[in-house]
Amino acid sequence: MSHSLVLDLSDANKLLVGHQDHYIRPANSKDLPQISAIEQLTSAYPCSNKQLQNCIHQTYVLCQESAIQGFIVIAIVENQAELHNIAINPEAQGKGFGSLFLQGLIQALPTRIEQFYLEVRVGNYRAIRLYHRLGFVKIAERKDYYRHGLGREDALVMARPCKQ
Ligand SMILES: CC(C)(COP(=O)(O)OP(=O)(O)OC[C@H]1O[C@@H](n2cnc3c(N)ncnc32)[C@H](O)[C@@H]1OP(=O)(O)O)[C@@H](O)C(=O)NCCC(=O)NCCS
Repeated sequence: MSHSLVLDLSDANKLLVGHQDHYIRPANSKDLPQISAIEQLTSAYPCSNKQLQNCIHQTYVLCQESAIQGFIVIAIVENQAELHNIAINPEAQGKGFGSLFLQGLIQALPTRIEQFYLEVRVGNYRAIRLYHRLGFVKIAERKDYYRHGLGREDALVMARPCKQ
């Protein structure tokens, strides 16, 4: 059973000091149109609005003033955290925001959370490079895990300790 998190985001927001007007905050239902627009632009198989709404209490947004530039969905299961989604608006990609956003949220997790897990398509090289930079290592592969065109694509399961 996963549940929502109340995170102290002050240190996460300190990582963004060099990026004027950017900050991280928990998402709410009013953010759904902007979150959904980014999901549509960044995913070949986007989550539906209903799916995004169902996990809104586990979602954090990266904002520039009132404009949402990215979102992350994290689920907590006992002493583990799982990354369920991360997306940065294409116009804001390649500027370090994805890395800072994820790094900030990992640092903000309560100390009882020991491991952080994620799954990624084997062909998503950009995301995999980001995860390697943040200290994630491959721990398993799931064969034919994702839809890919008319076929299937394998997933990498990656993990890192939360405190390192
Ligand atoms: C994966 C994703 C979240 C990365 O977000 P991002 O903000 O572009 O990530 P970063 O900017 O931190 O890093 C990406 C690249 O930009 C480079 N970069 C970082 N800061 C930079 C800067 N100031 N100027 C130029 N480039 C920079 C990084 O070195 C990195 O290069 P690399 O891909 O060659 O290793 C984003 O590409 C995305 O939304 N993808 C679609 C959704 C997706 O695939 N999600 C993952 C699901 S598992």
